[in-house]
Amino acid sequence: MVDQNPTAPRPASSASTAAGHGVVPDFAPAPAGEQRRFAVAGTGHRAGMYVSAITGEHADVATLVAWLDPNPGRIDYYDAEVGRALGQDGPAGLPRYTPEGLEKMIEERRVDTVVVTSPDHTHADLVARALAAGADVVVEKPLTTDRAGCRRITGAVADTGRDVTMTFNYRYAPRNSSLRQVVQSGQIGEVTSVHFEWALDTVHGADYFRRWHREKKSSGGLLVHKSSHHFDLVNWWLDDVPSRVYASGGLRFYGDRNAAARGLGPRPARGTGAVGDPFALDLHDDPRLQALYLDAEHHDGYLRDQDVFGPGITIEDNMALVVDYRSGATLTYSLNAHSPWEGYRVTVNGTEGRAELEVVERGAVLVGDDGKVVLDPSATPEGVAAGGLRPEGERLLVQRHWQAPTQYEIPAGIGGHGGGDAILLKDVFRKHLRVSEDALGRPAGYLDGLRAVAVGIAANQSLVTGLPVRVDDLDLGVDLSRPARAPRPAHEASA
Ligand SMILES: NC(=O)c1ccc[n+]([C@@H]2O[C@H](COP(=O)([O-])OP(=O)(O)OC[C@H]3O[C@@H](n4cnc5c(N)ncnc54)[C@H](O)[C@@H]3O)[C@@H](O)[C@H]2O)c1
Repeated sequence: MVDQNPTAPRPASSASTAAGHGVVPDFAPAPAGEQRRFAVAGTGHRAGMYVSAITGEHADVATLVAWLDPNPGRIDYYDAEVGRALGQDGPAGLPRYTPEGLEKMIEERRVDTVVVTSPDHTHADLVARALAAGADVVVEKPLTTDRAGCRRITGAVADTGRDVTMTFNYRYAPRNSSLRQVVQSGQIGEVTSVHFEWALDTVHGADYFRRWHREKKSSGGLLVHKSSHHFDLVNWWLDDVPSRVYASGGLRFYGDRNAAARGLGPRPARGTGAVGDPFALDLHDDPRLQALYLDAEHHDGYLRDQDVFGPGITIEDNMALVVDYRSGATLTYSLNAHSPWEGYRVTVNGTEGRAELEVVERGAVLVGDDGKVVLDPSATPEGVAAGGLRPEGERLLVQRHWQAPTQYEIPAGIGGHGGGDAILLKDVFRKHLRVSEDALGRPAGYLDGLRAVAVGIAANQSLVTGLPVRVDDLDLGVDLSRPARAPRPAHEASA
């Protein structure tokens, strides 16, 4: 089963099969016959990763018992996949429900855990109702998109005491875990500030402007939908809580007005069938996209391939933030969604030095002879895509005052998303079998999800008012504090 969104860069480490030391946690063997019962709510692209995990590597501890989605076509796709995975002649025939039937599904199918992989604005409703109906929840980022969603979820957690797992897969990418190790070790002293720049390219970045993400009411904009990954990383790297946010930004590249201002002529409303357009996504080019979206659109009218220069886009594509943290550290952050290359740069300044992480996920977006972008990275091998100047890869440098920089060795990961997804899934499905707590604190819960979306929600408010927003003033229904920091180990020389 293919999991990778074809517009996302394929991580350099995705081919790794042997993980570096300390990357994969240890788990006790699963007791025979003890499987938790899972249902998947939202059977689009992202559901694939969980479905293959439940029917594959984690089948000894998990079993899939139901689907929930308003679109029967996408359920058909996964039901057929599961049938094949189980070695059946036809579809698995798992019971299927529409969103109104969530409680019925949990009761009838005795669901232990609902995996929520639906559009962002539906998370709060599904999470709160699933908890109230007696199930635990595994929820994709972002936890929710607005203040009302946060309050609804905090209320449901308080009322039920049930478990919410946030799947912050970026934490599990070894390069990001390594930066956490560096900060945690005290090598660069107390953190005073962070500078974080993320560049999404004209393939992956453009993809957020084709479907529901393009509407603020559905996704919270990229500052919630996408940046919640990044804000979670900073919160976790620093072991800190954001306190005040100022944001500036706008829609300056995509959308009909920008296209008209740049003299782009009339364009087809959708990418499928478009000729020689590097901004078009042709659903015929990918059998999975065709099956999940094109073949299913007659059920609900969900168009996966709208023109990125069309009308109706209400999110930003250039964003800049200043975020104060409770410890006194400051984050300066920017996100650009129309870059010619994709990756990120993070600098962490501390009282004893600085750490710098640089990641190139796709060195260049190239256009093939047919005028379409070349999505298969094997066609643009490392170095060639960027003319050798921007090879795909990652580098973590640590430099203490009065010393030369040292390179921190980033261990190999396993699977997609910079080597993080496969490790995350082990924690999602086997966390009850962990033999020890995670030294890096990678497993995330709903409070981590709230701390991450709080920055984006505050930023959205700041974009409207032009003023800084205090996170406490958002009144998200719970105290976002972290437990007091554990004392740092005494520093030992350099990295
Ligand atoms: N962690 C990551 O790296 C990552 C990557 C991709 C997507 N995601 C997240 O996964 C989620 C799904 O993204 P996607 O790309 O698969 O979206 P998608 O649009 O492809 O799929 C969403 C599915 O949910 C269904 N749906 C709509 N309303 C629903 C409701 N009320 N209840 C249940 N199902 C409903 C849709 O019919 C569709 O099948 C999003 O929250 C997204 O942020 C996370």
